[in-house]
Formats: sequence, structure tokens, C-alpha cells
Amino acid sequence: MKKPSTSPVSRLEAHRADASLIEEILAGLTATPKRLHPKFLYDAHGSVLFDRICELPEYYLTRTETKILQHYAPDFMRSLGANPAIIELGSGSSLKTRILLDALTGPATYVPVEISRSHLNMAAEDLRQRYPHLQVLPVCADFTHPFSLPQSIDSQRKLVFFPGSTLGNFYREEAVQLLRLMGRLAGEDGQVLVGADLRKDPKIIEAAYNDSAGITAAFNLNVLTRLNNDFDADFDVQTFEHRAPWVAEDSRIEMHLVSKCAQSVRIGEQTIELSANESIWTESCHKYDNSQFAELSAAAGLTVEEIWTDPQELFSVQRLKNKQG
Ligand code: AVI
Repeated sequence: MKKPSTSPVSRLEAHRADASLIEEILAGLTATPKRLHPKFLYDAHGSVLFDRICELPEYYLTRTETKILQHYAPDFMRSLGANPAIIELGSGSSLKTRILLDALTGPATYVPVEISRSHLNMAAEDLRQRYPHLQVLPVCADFTHPFSLPQSIDSQRKLVFFPGSTLGNFYREEAVQLLRLMGRLAGEDGQVLVGADLRKDPKIIEAAYNDSAGITAAFNLNVLTRLNNDFDADFDVQTFEHRAPWVAEDSRIEMHLVSKCAQSVRIGEQTIELSANESIWTESCHKYDNSQFAELSAAAGLTVEEIWTDPQELFSVQRLKNKQG
């Protein structure tokens, strides 16, 4: 007899996890305005599309942050002292971290925290091979929920790394909580490095999220295909349109999927009604000026020690510490 590929217990757990995701999806799609959490954008195909976004000429964020890190990391990493522990939240394939690791002059520990076990293990193995003096201690966790760091790094000086403007995808209260967590993980004499996209001419920002090749549109629309594939929905993807306007008063790009007509969509047993022009809000990407970012950091008990930026001031890497006293 053919054996099932997972144990009955783990299949039951997977089923429960799916059930709570379906509840979350339905709660979002029956709310006003309709919304989906941005985590649903990142299935396997969504992640491939996101990698392509990072290469687009209009999407200045990735290449600008990379250049900033290449410029500032060597001096900064030297200043950290011997044997630091670098903690990265949502480390993915750890590509940007390699810029920091390349600048190391002696042994160090790297603690990638990542929800996807396959990404985590692959990245950890790759880094062990590339950096023989690096101790890699992967932690498989969702960093928005409580998790523990390995005790063995307790006495090491810490650097918490959160690149990529990911903080901008969180709303204010969540962003403050996340910064507070980073401060706690860094500890008293630790440091925090956060990538933050800067507020600038809205034309530049809008172009980054409305690229001429239509990759961001495909990335956004893919969430509907994912709901069809993974959550038994019947979205007709062709009847939705990608929109990503700059909303100045909230200092953010909002990504929406707008229904071109009045329609009913089935998800499992439930039916959702959409009117013509009604939108499903899929993501927000906040942009900060330096004073907004300083204020956000202060609300989390952190002070901005230094701001690394590019000559055009498109993007910033903010170096933070816990407020003293
Ligand atoms: C993952 N995150 C930093 C991207 C951003 O720019 O906020 C997500 C993204 N959405 C559309 N394009 C890129």
C-alpha cells in the first residue's frame, strides 16, 4: 500500500493552518474596504515575480540600497568590534547580508530568522560554504510572533539587520512594534540597521509600482490566481486591474486590484460580491522623510545615530540604537 507522504498529525495541522488562513481571507474580503494581507502575494510564483521587480529599471529601491550598503558597510562592520552576532529578520535568501559579511575581518555569528524553512536551510548552507569563519545559527520563525534567539549569542555584541524597505509594508503601530522588537534583540550596546525608502517626487515612486513591463501588475494580480489555486476560489483574473496610486496624506503607495465589473466570486462555500470599480487593497508601501522616520524610531525607544543615503537621496539605511537612560 502506498504510504501517505505526511503523518496524519501533520496533515491535520496543515488543515487547521489552512482553515485559519481561509478565515483571514474571508474576513478581509467581507470588510469595507476589501483587503488581503500582503503575505498572500508571496507564493512561489509571486516570489519569482518579486525578484523580477527588484531588477526593473523603474524599481530603484533594491539597487540603490545595495549601493549604499556597499559604500558604508566596510567601515561600519570594522567599527562593530570582534565577533559580532548579526541577526536578520525575514532573511529570505540573505543576498544583501552578504554585503555585510564580505566586510567582516574575523569570526562572527549570523542568525537568519525566516518563516520559510526551505529558504532558510538553503541560505544557511550556502553561507557556511562561502564564509568558513562564520557561525550560522538559523531560526525558523515568523518574526511578527514571539520567538527566541540562540542562547549561545547572549554575550556577543548584536547587529539587527532589516533591509529592503520591508518596514514600509507595515502600518504605523505594527512598524513601531517591530522596531521595538529590533531594539530588544539588539540589547543595550547593540545596533539596528533598517532600510527605509525616502519620500520623494511622487512620479518616481509611482513609476516604481506601475512599471512599463507590467511585472508589478502581474505580481499584484497573481494573488487572485493564488486564491484560486490554494483556497478554492474562482476569481476571473482578467476582470481585475492593477492600480498603485501615491496617497500623499498617508505618505504611501497603495496597491489595489480593481474589479472592472459588478461580479460575484466564490471562495470555498462563500460568495463575495464586488461592484464595478470596487477595489481589493493588497499592500501599502510607506515612504518616510528623515524626520518621520526619526519620530517612528523614537516611538519605539530608538534613536537614529546615522543615516546612510545615495547622492539622489532616493533611499536610506538608518542606523539606530536604543535610547540611553
Ligand atoms: C517587499 N517590499 C519591500 C516591496 C515594496 O516595495 O514595498 C513590495 C513590493 N510591492 C510592489 N513592488 C514591490
